[in-house]
Amino acid sequence: MKVLLIAGARPNFMKIAPVWFEMQQDPSHFEPILLHTGQHYDYEMSKVFFEDLNLPEPHYFLGVGSGTHAEQTARIMVEFEKVLQEETPDLVVVFGDVNSTLACSVTAKKLLIPVAHVEAGLRSFDMSMPEEINRKVTDTISDILFTPSKDGNENLIREGVNPDKIHFVGNIMIDSLIRVLNRINPFDEDKILEEFGLERGNYVLVTLHRPSNVDDKDHLSKILDCLSTLSQKIPVIFPVHPRTKKNINGFGINFPLNGEFKIVEPLRYKEFITLEKHPTFVLTDSGGIQEETTYLNIPCLTLRPNTERPITITKGTNELVAFENIKEKISLILSGKRKQGKIPELWDGKTAQRIADILKDKGVSGK
Ligand code: UD1
Repeated sequence: MKVLLIAGARPNFMKIAPVWFEMQQDPSHFEPILLHTGQHYDYEMSKVFFEDLNLPEPHYFLGVGSGTHAEQTARIMVEFEKVLQEETPDLVVVFGDVNSTLACSVTAKKLLIPVAHVEAGLRSFDMSMPEEINRKVTDTISDILFTPSKDGNENLIREGVNPDKIHFVGNIMIDSLIRVLNRINPFDEDKILEEFGLERGNYVLVTLHRPSNVDDKDHLSKILDCLSTLSQKIPVIFPVHPRTKKNINGFGINFPLNGEFKIVEPLRYKEFITLEKHPTFVLTDSGGIQEETTYLNIPCLTLRPNTERPITITKGTNELVAFENIKEKISLILSGKRKQGKIPELWDGKTAQRIADILKDKGVSGK
């Protein structure tokens, strides 16, 4: 079975890797081909992740870069269509909820090529998020839907998806997380923590890139002021996403910087996971980080009004927080009141194996 595996943006790379390895070691069933749309093109956002995950250079790199959503989506579709015509794969596998996920699934389906969606069924029920639109469109047209948690199955059934298409396989990101955790030894961890001047259990890790948090000057200024104040109590490390960096510079925001408020470039996967393993807590608006902190049993405050990953709240260590309540929440955690969690069902590092087994048993059909 010739399978095109699609990645576009940073969160896709950790999801594609385990499926690539699983298929590659079974050449009698699979002929996997890697395609990178180039949605993320910065070195730290892209190439370095391929290296860290031991992925080979992609067979296809579409180099689409950024633009408005319509421009980016359209460029991916035009370039991807050419690849599909050349390769005529038996199956296209898309991951997550980024613009590349939507663009490639639509293009493949219009050429009557079957599509499988890994991380299907997640819903924030917030149509102002571009990712929610990507998730809904992709799930509606995909032939095989691999869900990370049972809430995903419930959402899909409620939307009228044929249950035969839905497979609860667990969380693919956790496959990559477990793999990298096995490769990091305490000596590497000491080195990485030392490099950033941090001590185990005594710092806060922050990531923010959602338009709702970083596209409004006033809101972003308030968040940065709050982090700066927090860093007087406990060191804060903030690897800054390009979108956030552009806005901080573009808006001309000035905020008090001190040695304990460490604003750094996007980190490599291994570095990031090390920092995610040992903080007092994480403050984020990312999707994947809500899941990784749940697996790592690290308290996570998610600065968003909703999440498409509710299992990280019902089972895990995640809590949603509004900016107005953030100080109060942080004080509670710093006083030792931290949320305890459990690892959700099938977040066990074997998701890629389950995906490959289902594809082998079931075969693929685009009807
Ligand atoms: C994208 C995904 C989001 C994912 C995030 C993770 C969509 C709709 N959004 O958002 O789901 O959580 O990636 O990182 O697909 N830029 C660079 N270098 C890069 C990439 C982007 O400078 O390598 C700049 C772009 O020019 C743009 C900004 O950063 O101005 C934001 O990039 P964009 O592609 O709009 O989406 P993300 O915010 O990265």
